[in-house]
Amino acid sequence: MGIEMDVTDSDNVRRSADFAVERWDRLDAWVNNAGVFPSVPIAQMDDAMWDKVFAVNARGVLAGTREASRIMSTGGHGSVIVNICSTAGFRGSAPGLAAYVGSKHAVRGITRQSAMELAPHGIRVLGVAPSYVPTEGNQLAAAGVPVQEDSVPLMMTSPIGRIGTPDDIARVVFFCVSDLSMFMTGSTLLADGGATA
Ligand SMILES: NC(=O)c1ccc[n+]([C@@H]2O[C@H](COP(=O)([O-])OP(=O)(O)OC[C@H]3O[C@@H](n4cnc5c(N)ncnc54)[C@H](O)[C@@H]3O)[C@@H](O)[C@H]2O)c1
Repeated sequence: MGIEMDVTDSDNVRRSADFAVERWDRLDAWVNNAGVFPSVPIAQMDDAMWDKVFAVNARGVLAGTREASRIMSTGGHGSVIVNICSTAGFRGSAPGLAAYVGSKHAVRGITRQSAMELAPHGIRVLGVAPSYVPTEGNQLAAAGVPVQEDSVPLMMTSPIGRIGTPDDIARVVFFCVSDLSMFMTGSTLLADGGATA
Protein backbone atom coordinates (compact mmCIF):
# COMPACT_ATOMS: atom_id res chain seq x y z
CA MET A 1 0.00 0.00 0.00
CA GLY A 2 1.36 3.42 -0.87
CA ILE A 3 0.45 6.63 0.87
CA GLU A 4 1.53 10.16 0.08
CA MET A 5 3.96 11.83 2.47
CA ASP A 6 5.91 15.09 2.31
CA VAL A 7 8.94 14.68 4.56
CA THR A 8 9.33 18.47 4.90
CA ASP A 9 5.92 18.62 6.62
CA SER A 10 6.29 17.21 10.13
CA ASP A 11 2.52 16.93 10.72
CA ASN A 12 2.22 14.95 7.51
CA VAL A 13 5.05 12.59 8.57
CA ARG A 14 3.40 12.12 11.99
CA ARG A 15 0.04 11.29 10.39
CA SER A 16 1.71 8.78 8.03
CA ALA A 17 3.43 7.02 10.92
CA ASP A 18 0.15 6.92 12.86
CA PHE A 19 -1.64 5.58 9.80
CA ALA A 20 0.91 2.77 9.42
CA VAL A 21 0.52 1.65 13.01
CA GLU A 22 -3.28 1.89 12.88
CA ARG A 23 -3.23 -0.29 9.78
CA TRP A 24 -0.62 -2.90 10.85
CA ASP A 25 -0.53 -2.54 14.67
CA ARG A 26 3.23 -2.12 14.89
CA LEU A 27 6.21 -0.67 13.09
CA ASP A 28 9.19 -2.98 12.51
CA ALA A 29 11.16 -0.93 9.99
CA TRP A 30 11.24 2.63 8.67
CA VAL A 31 13.41 3.78 5.74
CA ASN A 32 14.17 7.47 5.31
CA ASN A 33 14.70 7.45 1.54
CA ALA A 34 13.38 10.74 0.15
CA GLY A 35 16.13 12.87 -1.34
CA VAL A 36 16.69 15.72 -3.78
CA PHE A 37 19.90 16.55 -5.62
CA PRO A 38 19.70 19.80 -7.60
CA SER A 39 22.96 20.78 -9.24
CA VAL A 40 23.88 24.42 -8.54
CA PRO A 41 27.45 25.78 -8.52
CA ILE A 42 28.48 27.29 -5.18
CA ALA A 43 28.64 30.83 -6.61
CA GLN A 44 24.96 30.57 -7.61
CA MET A 45 23.74 28.68 -4.52
CA ASP A 46 21.27 30.95 -2.72
CA ASP A 47 20.02 30.41 0.83
CA ALA A 48 16.62 29.17 -0.37
CA MET A 49 18.17 26.39 -2.45
CA TRP A 50 20.42 25.29 0.42
CA ASP A 51 17.46 25.26 2.83
CA LYS A 52 15.30 23.32 0.37
CA VAL A 53 17.88 20.54 0.04
CA PHE A 54 18.44 20.34 3.79
CA ALA A 55 14.68 20.39 4.48
CA VAL A 56 14.25 17.15 2.54
CA ASN A 57 17.58 15.35 2.92
CA ALA A 58 18.48 16.20 6.51
CA ARG A 59 15.45 17.55 8.42
CA GLY A 60 13.27 14.99 6.64
CA VAL A 61 15.45 12.22 8.08
CA LEU A 62 15.08 13.73 11.55
CA ALA A 63 11.29 13.99 11.14
CA GLY A 64 11.02 10.38 10.03
CA THR A 65 13.29 9.20 12.83
CA ARG A 66 11.31 11.16 15.42
CA GLU A 67 7.93 9.81 14.34
CA ALA A 68 9.09 6.24 13.76
CA SER A 69 10.90 6.05 17.08
CA ARG A 70 7.88 7.52 18.91
CA ILE A 71 5.91 4.47 17.83
CA MET A 72 8.74 1.91 17.89
CA SER A 73 9.80 2.73 21.44
CA THR A 74 6.45 1.53 22.77
CA GLY A 75 6.70 -1.82 20.92
CA GLY A 76 9.64 -3.38 22.73
CA HIS A 77 10.23 -5.98 19.99
CA GLY A 78 13.31 -4.44 18.37
CA SER A 79 12.85 -2.20 15.36
CA VAL A 80 15.18 -0.66 12.79
CA ILE A 81 15.42 2.74 11.11
CA VAL A 82 17.47 2.93 7.89
CA ASN A 83 18.68 6.24 6.50
CA ILE A 84 19.56 6.37 2.81
CA CYS A 85 22.81 8.33 2.69
CA SER A 86 25.21 8.40 -0.29
CA THR A 87 28.90 8.09 -1.05
CA ALA A 88 28.48 11.91 -1.03
CA GLY A 89 28.22 11.51 2.75
CA PHE A 90 31.84 10.32 2.74
CA ARG A 91 33.53 12.62 0.25
CA GLY A 92 32.93 15.39 -2.28
CA SER A 93 31.02 14.66 -5.47
CA ALA A 94 30.35 16.18 -8.88
CA PRO A 95 30.47 20.00 -9.19
CA GLY A 96 27.18 21.65 -8.17
CA LEU A 97 26.35 19.26 -5.35
CA ALA A 98 27.56 21.27 -2.33
CA ALA A 99 24.17 21.26 -0.60
CA TYR A 100 23.63 17.60 -1.40
CA VAL A 101 27.08 16.59 -0.11
CA GLY A 102 26.56 18.68 3.05
CA SER A 103 23.13 17.16 3.65
CA LYS A 104 24.38 13.60 3.20
CA HIS A 105 27.22 14.21 5.67
CA ALA A 106 24.44 15.37 8.02
CA VAL A 107 22.60 12.08 7.44
CA ARG A 108 25.64 10.17 8.71
CA GLY A 109 25.68 12.36 11.81
CA ILE A 110 21.96 11.92 12.45
CA THR A 111 22.42 8.16 12.02
CA ARG A 112 25.20 8.03 14.61
CA GLN A 113 23.45 10.23 17.14
CA SER A 114 20.02 8.63 16.86
CA ALA A 115 21.63 5.18 17.18
CA MET A 116 23.05 6.24 20.56
CA GLU A 117 19.83 7.84 21.77
CA LEU A 118 17.51 5.09 20.60
CA ALA A 119 19.53 1.99 21.55
CA PRO A 120 18.07 1.97 25.08
CA HIS A 121 14.61 1.75 23.47
CA GLY A 122 15.56 -1.33 21.43
CA ILE A 123 15.73 0.61 18.17
CA ARG A 124 18.70 0.18 15.84
CA VAL A 125 19.62 2.88 13.31
CA LEU A 126 21.74 2.19 10.23
CA GLY A 127 22.71 4.14 7.13
CA VAL A 128 23.12 2.84 3.58
CA ALA A 129 25.33 4.84 1.24
CA PRO A 130 24.89 4.02 -2.45
CA SER A 131 27.13 5.20 -5.25
CA TYR A 132 25.59 6.14 -8.61
CA VAL A 133 22.49 4.07 -9.43
CA PRO A 134 20.39 4.96 -12.47
CA THR A 135 16.96 5.92 -11.12
CA GLU A 136 14.15 8.08 -12.40
CA GLY A 137 15.31 11.07 -10.36
CA ASN A 138 18.99 11.13 -11.12
CA GLN A 139 18.53 10.38 -14.81
CA LEU A 140 16.22 13.39 -15.02
CA ALA A 141 18.77 15.46 -13.09
CA ALA A 142 21.64 14.30 -15.31
CA ALA A 143 19.68 15.28 -18.41
CA GLY A 144 19.78 18.92 -17.31
CA VAL A 145 23.51 19.05 -16.51
CA PRO A 146 26.15 19.60 -19.17
CA VAL A 147 28.33 16.46 -19.41
CA GLN A 148 31.83 17.04 -18.10
CA GLU A 149 34.57 14.81 -19.41
CA ASP A 150 35.63 13.38 -16.06
CA SER A 151 32.50 13.61 -13.85
CA VAL A 152 30.56 10.63 -15.21
CA PRO A 153 33.43 8.11 -14.89
CA LEU A 154 34.06 9.36 -11.32
CA MET A 155 30.46 8.58 -10.36
CA MET A 156 30.07 5.34 -12.27
CA THR A 157 33.27 3.33 -11.97
CA SER A 158 33.91 0.80 -9.23
CA PRO A 159 36.36 -2.05 -8.58
CA ILE A 160 33.43 -4.46 -9.03
CA GLY A 161 33.26 -3.23 -12.63
CA ARG A 162 29.63 -2.23 -13.05
CA ILE A 163 27.25 0.41 -11.80
CA GLY A 164 24.75 -0.45 -9.09
CA THR A 165 21.07 -1.22 -9.50
CA PRO A 166 18.16 -0.39 -7.17
CA ASP A 167 18.08 -4.11 -6.27
CA ASP A 168 21.74 -3.97 -5.13
CA ILE A 169 20.78 -1.22 -2.69
CA ALA A 170 17.54 -2.87 -1.57
CA ARG A 171 19.53 -5.98 -0.57
CA VAL A 172 21.68 -3.93 1.79
CA VAL A 173 18.58 -2.27 3.27
CA PHE A 174 17.09 -5.74 3.73
CA PHE A 175 20.26 -6.82 5.58
CA CYS A 176 19.91 -3.76 7.82
CA VAL A 177 16.28 -4.40 8.78
CA SER A 178 16.84 -8.13 9.33
CA ASP A 179 18.35 -9.97 12.29
CA LEU A 180 21.49 -10.55 10.19
CA SER A 181 22.63 -7.12 11.36
CA MET A 182 21.40 -7.53 14.93
CA PHE A 183 24.73 -6.43 16.49
CA MET A 184 24.98 -3.28 14.37
CA THR A 185 23.76 0.24 15.01
CA GLY A 186 25.09 3.68 14.10
CA SER A 187 27.06 2.48 11.05
CA THR A 188 26.59 3.71 7.51
CA LEU A 189 27.26 0.88 5.08
CA LEU A 190 28.81 1.77 1.73
CA ALA A 191 26.87 0.09 -1.10
CA ASP A 192 29.18 1.27 -3.86
CA GLY A 193 30.90 -1.69 -5.48
CA GLY A 194 34.07 -0.65 -3.67
CA ALA A 195 34.22 2.79 -5.29
CA THR A 196 34.99 4.56 -2.01
CA ALA A 197 37.51 1.95 -0.85
N1 LIG B 1 20.37 7.07 -7.46
C1 LIG B 1 21.59 7.34 -6.99
O1 LIG B 1 22.58 7.34 -7.74
C2 LIG B 1 21.78 7.63 -5.55
C3 LIG B 1 23.08 7.56 -5.04
C4 LIG B 1 23.28 7.83 -3.70
C5 LIG B 1 22.20 8.11 -2.89
N2 LIG B 1 20.95 8.17 -3.41
C6 LIG B 1 19.86 8.48 -2.51
O2 LIG B 1 18.83 7.53 -2.68
C7 LIG B 1 17.58 8.14 -2.32
C8 LIG B 1 16.60 7.86 -3.43
O3 LIG B 1 17.04 8.54 -4.60
P1 LIG B 1 16.69 8.07 -6.09
O4 LIG B 1 17.94 8.00 -6.87
O5 LIG B 1 15.78 6.89 -6.04
O6 LIG B 1 15.95 9.38 -6.61
P2 LIG B 1 14.46 9.59 -7.13
O7 LIG B 1 14.35 11.05 -7.45
O8 LIG B 1 14.15 8.61 -8.22
O9 LIG B 1 13.63 9.25 -5.84
C9 LIG B 1 13.60 10.16 -4.76
C10 LIG B 1 12.20 10.16 -4.24
O10 LIG B 1 12.13 11.12 -3.17
C11 LIG B 1 10.87 11.72 -3.28
N3 LIG B 1 10.83 13.01 -2.59
C12 LIG B 1 11.46 14.17 -2.93
N4 LIG B 1 11.12 15.14 -2.06
C13 LIG B 1 10.25 14.59 -1.18
C14 LIG B 1 9.53 15.08 -0.06
N5 LIG B 1 9.63 16.37 0.32
N6 LIG B 1 8.75 14.23 0.63
C15 LIG B 1 8.61 12.94 0.24
N7 LIG B 1 9.26 12.41 -0.81
C16 LIG B 1 10.06 13.24 -1.51
C17 LIG B 1 10.62 11.86 -4.77
O11 LIG B 1 9.25 12.02 -5.04
C18 LIG B 1 11.15 10.55 -5.28
O12 LIG B 1 10.14 9.56 -5.29
C19 LIG B 1 17.86 9.63 -2.10
O13 LIG B 1 18.00 9.89 -0.71
C20 LIG B 1 19.20 9.82 -2.80
O14 LIG B 1 19.94 10.90 -2.27
C21 LIG B 1 20.71 7.92 -4.73
